[in-house]
Amino acid sequence: MNRKDEHLNLALDFHKEEKQSDFDNIDFIHNVFSEINMDSVDLKTNIAGYDLSHPFHINGMTGGSELTKKFNQKLAILARETNTLMGLGSLSIALRDESTQDSFKIARKENPNGIIFANLGADKTLEDAKKACEIIDADGIQIHVNVCQEIVMPEGERQFSGWLDNISKIVDGLGLPVLIKEVGFGMSKSAIKSLKEIGVTTIDVSGKGGTNFAKIENSRRTNYKYNFLENYGNSTVVSLLEAQEYVKNTDIIASGGIRNSMDIVKSLSLGAKSVAMAGRFLRLVNELEMEAAIEEVNNWKYQIKSIMTLLGAKNISELQNTDIILINNVREWAELRNIDVKKLANRKK
Ligand code: FNR
Repeated sequence: MNRKDEHLNLALDFHKEEKQSDFDNIDFIHNVFSEINMDSVDLKTNIAGYDLSHPFHINGMTGGSELTKKFNQKLAILARETNTLMGLGSLSIALRDESTQDSFKIARKENPNGIIFANLGADKTLEDAKKACEIIDADGIQIHVNVCQEIVMPEGERQFSGWLDNISKIVDGLGLPVLIKEVGFGMSKSAIKSLKEIGVTTIDVSGKGGTNFAKIENSRRTNYKYNFLENYGNSTVVSLLEAQEYVKNTDIIASGGIRNSMDIVKSLSLGAKSVAMAGRFLRLVNELEMEAAIEEVNNWKYQIKSIMTLLGAKNISELQNTDIILINNVREWAELRNIDVKKLANRKK
């Protein structure tokens, strides 16, 4: 089986049970007097220079084979019908093998006016990024940084020098928004600082807690297993805490293990401007007919509005002034990293 199909099938397999999450270590304070009406809640946000009608999107996943083409088609229809930004999977294969380009182009064909991001690894050049964007007439590109995945991947890359330089050239020369993302191992303060220093303004922390690429790649190994990396990485919540000093002047995106609308609202409240989901959208289009999938996504919008009403937040910026209480290991992490937990717990004016 080719690698793209294997990733897709393993991602679906490894998601059978709802897991415990660091999101369970964040509490809101119950707001007895909401004093706002649900129809006054505004879900609008803006990332990478694009206005979004709601604060979540489809993260980069797939393409490169017949099976993944079918998934890209479904995801693109869902994106079109729900007005959702969508990222495609790495187009590296489309640069090497023209015959695979259709599996990506299908997204643009189904959603000619939607916001669609291309995707490549940080080992790629500015020329590669330009070509990848041309193939799908992209509105921007996601560049993934995935050292841990490459390390565990049997046929993975072993040279990691020069990534920041590649990213810097792409940011300076592409002429389209560039979003840097992890793939489920999270980001630290210093990673975000390094990206900011080279002009990156949109960063998806993509933390641990959802699709687990250490596990996926490890299961593709026949020997020299990397079981000890299966729990490696920083959770999405921890990564958002790490990003605190940047949330005001950077488009921080939360992703990695987003299970439900409450996880979305908690991420937004920690400063994310949008919340991306990969595994969850993959399962949605795998399990439901299109009409039901569309209804489900529209229901998420309604649920987010409900939670914001409950918290008395009319928009995302007000949500970011809601008090949040960090408990257990998340609190310990914040304290050790000099992140002011008391300030987060007492933000409301
Ligand atoms: C991914 N992801 C991914 N990311 C990326 O930047 N380029 C890629 O090609 C892929 N490929 C891919 C395939 C499949 C099948 C899945 C499920 C995911 C990673 C994805 O964008 C995201 O960062 C992680 O999956 C964590 O989010 P979830 O799945 O926990 O919501």
